[in-house]
Amino acid sequence: MSDVVYPNHLGIIMDGNGRWAKEKGLNRSVGHKAGADNLVNLLDYIYKNTSIKVVSLYAFSTENFKRDKEEVSYLMKLFVTLFNTKLESIKKNNVKVVFSGRRENLPKAVLGSMDKTTEDTKDNTKGILNICLNYGGDYEIVDMTKKIAKQVLEGSLKIEDITKEVVNKNLYQDLPPLDFVIRTSGEKRISNFMIYQSSYTEYDFPDTYFPDFDSKCLEESLDNYRKRDRRFGNAK
Ligand code: FPP
Repeated sequence: MSDVVYPNHLGIIMDGNGRWAKEKGLNRSVGHKAGADNLVNLLDYIYKNTSIKVVSLYAFSTENFKRDKEEVSYLMKLFVTLFNTKLESIKKNNVKVVFSGRRENLPKAVLGSMDKTTEDTKDNTKGILNICLNYGGDYEIVDMTKKIAKQVLEGSLKIEDITKEVVNKNLYQDLPPLDFVIRTSGEKRISNFMIYQSSYTEYDFPDTYFPDFDSKCLEESLDNYRKRDRRFGNAK
């Protein structure tokens, strides 16, 4: 494992749950449940078999609240189950779970399970799982700007001391930049996912719907990542 190159920070846009279910003549909720089950296995694989340190997941965007009430309510219940029980193996794997996004509009039960998960895993050191929930990259930049403006107004920060590091520290989480993002289902869009953190991110857009995106599919995507020539603005 040690001489194999892995991204330090991997992002996953878990897309295609609805289409996976529809093609089987099932309700969209069944697709989300299958996606969640797949996620648990995938995370287990990542933290046990790779040296990927940080994983960021796009679980629910600020725009996803526009979906049918029934679907939103199902997803919220699924999150509670996941955080309270299914992420147990992640917690045991010494992974710290953090959340990115706005708390407003989230049901109390979801907020409670998020807070408990954060508290239970705060001292874990092997890896970080960043769950983007009620998240928008544009709102993250707005919220960071407000936090910094407040510090300047209160006198605890001088304008000339605002650096890239200060900006990063005032985002929802102080994480390293995203090296690689996988969006499943064949859609080739970023959809507002961690836009500040992805200035030099490599992308892969496999056709597979998320519930079928297993560790073998992940390894194929990681092979694509290894073929990229990352120059960060340097000459070839
Ligand atoms: C996108 O597929 C998926 C979502 C908006 C929800 C993803 C949520 C999970 C996989 C549950 C577990 C996640 C966490 C982090 C707890 P879609 O519904 O847009 O599918 P479609 O594009 O085919 O309609």
